[in-house]
Amino acid sequence: MGGRAGIEARIAGLYDPEDGDGFFESERERRSVARRGSSSTYGELTFAGAKALFAHLRLGPEDCLFDLGSGTGKLVWQAALSTRVGRAVGVELVPSRHAIAEHALARARAKGWRALERVEFLHGDMLRADLSAATVVYSCNTAFPDRMLNRQLRKLATGRAGLRFVSLMPMDDNPWFEERSLLRLDTSWRKAARVRVYELVRPRKQGRGSPSR
Ligand SMILES: C[S@@+](CC[C@H](N)C(=O)[O-])C[C@H]1O[C@@H](n2cnc3c(N)ncnc32)[C@H](O)[C@@H]1O
Repeated sequence: MGGRAGIEARIAGLYDPEDGDGFFESERERRSVARRGSSSTYGELTFAGAKALFAHLRLGPEDCLFDLGSGTGKLVWQAALSTRVGRAVGVELVPSRHAIAEHALARARAKGWRALERVEFLHGDMLRADLSAATVVYSCNTAFPDRMLNRQLRKLATGRAGLRFVSLMPMDDNPWFEERSLLRLDTSWRKAARVRVYELVRPRKQGRGSPSR
């Protein structure tokens, strides 16, 4: 099955409605994320929104895309199936969402999809993830508290020069990133939401006394 409609249908075919859609987490999961200073509030870029984003980013084999807070993992699959990205990695803290992403991965494996060689899902806190391979980071961080946004920004600032950071939230002024583009993308909660693409122009040096988080 080719074409965009084909890709959307193929991704949908990886998910079993009985697993849930990821929009709800348990009270325990919500509290666990809050204890880490973040938010478990859920929402997704629509298929059309991600398609417009990927058209803008023009991902190639040299790119490694991270989705920080990847939920059920649809955006990661869309990147792998519709672009030439070298690797697409999702990082998700909520166990039930990560489990849905893993189930989808198992279905892709059963179907013998080659794209899964370029896909990975990690369960854990994005602030602890090894992002050294990342060339593009996307984060649907709309509901993150300010302190979490700052910690995310400081961590990403230790990345490689040229790293592109696609953020739903505008960044505070900082010495590391410059804004490159402002996109309007459809999300599950709003049409034409503002999405900014930043470029890391002056990476932050990590030395003694300058913690990454
Ligand atoms: C708005 S959803 C984004 C879903 C998906 N990336 C998309 O845009 O379609 C944000 C996700 O970030 C996750 N999250 C929040 N804090 C996190 C953290 N510190 N590490 C990893 N994931 C986190 C939440 O559990 C939630 O699933």
